[in-house]
Amino acid sequence: MPETIHPLVIHFPIALLLSSVLLSWSNLIWPGKGLDKAAWYTLLLGLAGAAVSIITGLIAAQAVPANSPALQTLTTHRLLGIVTFVIFGLQTICVWRSKGEYSKGKRILHIVIQLVGVSLIVATGALGGELVYTFGVGTAVPLP
Ligand code: HEM
Repeated sequence: MPETIHPLVIHFPIALLLSSVLLSWSNLIWPGKGLDKAAWYTLLLGLAGAAVSIITGLIAAQAVPANSPALQTLTTHRLLGIVTFVIFGLQTICVWRSKGEYSKGKRILHIVIQLVGVSLIVATGALGGELVYTFGVGTAVPLP
């Protein structure tokens, strides 16, 4: 039963972290409309969701046998999930410390980190889907 919680929570960090980046970029185009605040709060909620996803993911992974063909994908998925958390955690610290005010160089660096974060969350989700839909992890289908 605890292993079924992971699919329940993972949609929140995926949607929230992607929204946070989109809102932050929208704020560059339309400043002064409160989009920076929306980006900040979605970032915080998304980060919290990512932390819960890591905990629930580690619990779900215990149901995967050590000789499962899904193991390689699971290991990569776990690593990407943790790195995703670290990257968005770094962004949180950067935004918090700078109060959203950046020099041009730091702004570009922040956008690069955001692009890395977006790629990571998409890759993590894609590999998670592969675990379920290719290998049948977490489903009633008997594992090969
Ligand atoms: C930011 C962190 C994470 C995200 C966004 C994420 C996302 C996903 C997604 C989208 C799925 C497919 C669910 C479905 O289609 O029903 C999945 C499945 C899975 N993930 Fe993650 N994941 C994260 C972290 C982790 C970690 C750290 C582990 C630990 C090994 C893990 C283990 C699993 C397992 C075992 C499955 C198969 C389904 C299940 O048994 O619940 N995940 N994940």
